[in-house]
Amino acid sequence: MKEHHPNKTTKSTKSDVVTRAAQTVQLGGLVAFPTETVYGLGADATNDVAVARIFDVKKRPHFNPLIVHFSDQASLAATVVLNEKAKKLAQAFWPGALTIVLPRKSNCQVSLLASAGLGTLAVRIPNHPLAHSLMKAANTPIAAPSANCSGSISPSTAAHVRESLGNKVDIILDGGPCKVGIESTVVDLSGSNPTLLRPGGIVCEELEKIIGPIKPSDSSNDKIRSPGMLSRHYAPSIPLRLNAKKANPGEAFLAFGATVNARHVNLSHIGDLKEAAANLFAMLRMLDRPNYKGIAVMKIPATGLGIAINDRLKRAAAIP
Ligand code: TXA
Ligand code: MG
Repeated sequence: MKEHHPNKTTKSTKSDVVTRAAQTVQLGGLVAFPTETVYGLGADATNDVAVARIFDVKKRPHFNPLIVHFSDQASLAATVVLNEKAKKLAQAFWPGALTIVLPRKSNCQVSLLASAGLGTLAVRIPNHPLAHSLMKAANTPIAAPSANCSGSISPSTAAHVRESLGNKVDIILDGGPCKVGIESTVVDLSGSNPTLLRPGGIVCEELEKIIGPIKPSDSSNDKIRSPGMLSRHYAPSIPLRLNAKKANPGEAFLAFGATVNARHVNLSHIGDLKEAAANLFAMLRMLDRPNYKGIAVMKIPATGLGIAINDRLKRAAAIP
């Protein structure tokens, strides 16, 4: 097993490498690691800024919700509500190439940014010893999309990760080629009808043998549920007004950058887009109160993570 630093190659034992990778995760860094499906770009799922770094490095134009990885069902139980069907699928297919979307528990410690503001969370217990060593040593759930730039092919070797993300990742753990090579199957069990959100490593018929019919992925409703089509995403219940310079009477104000009134709720006083992304969903929820007429949001620069922030704000503003 090797570890790749972008600029140097170190010979170290497996446990050295895993310990360093786990420390990197705990300090809010990014670690690419193998799973049986594809390599993941991992960060501490409970750290908002670390999760924001994932979107930044992948250059995602919007905040797709991320899959959060756990080492066992006990650690996952505090995070999401496991219904009967989920328990059956977990029993049959975990650890494995299956991701289940479930309601977040009210005291869920995972960043709202990993859920893209939704009330649900995608969870998976992967089947790879190195992924497990990392999760155990870091002692925290790990949010991880595939470790590639947005729009390019998912990586199934450490070399693919290096080509796509290079020195933007703190550590790349090399566990050899991924056995499955395509992403996990994503099934949504958060509503009354199980829905296939993404076909993947485990064929849907295998899942249906255990829990009965699953709505196919190409139904029109499913398109709405897939990334970027945010009708199911969190939108405040009061109107959102964008590019605001100040709040109108009765409006809450969500600032960005230095403002005259330091007491304003501020996505980032220093104008840092990563910090703003990390705060976005939690602050929108905080200001979504019936005693306000609406939320006025200051202009956010349309560069880097600002593109995803603006995308999200525009969608939230469009929903009545
Ligand atoms: O095999 C895999 O699943 C890999 C490895 C690293 O685990 N991960 C992966 O993650 O492919 P990513 O982020 O590239 O894909 C996550 C998929 C997206 O299609 C996303 O929209 C969906 O899961 N997803 C995640 N959370 C969701 C949620 N709360 N509701 C609906 N869809 C969700
Ligand atoms: Mg992907």
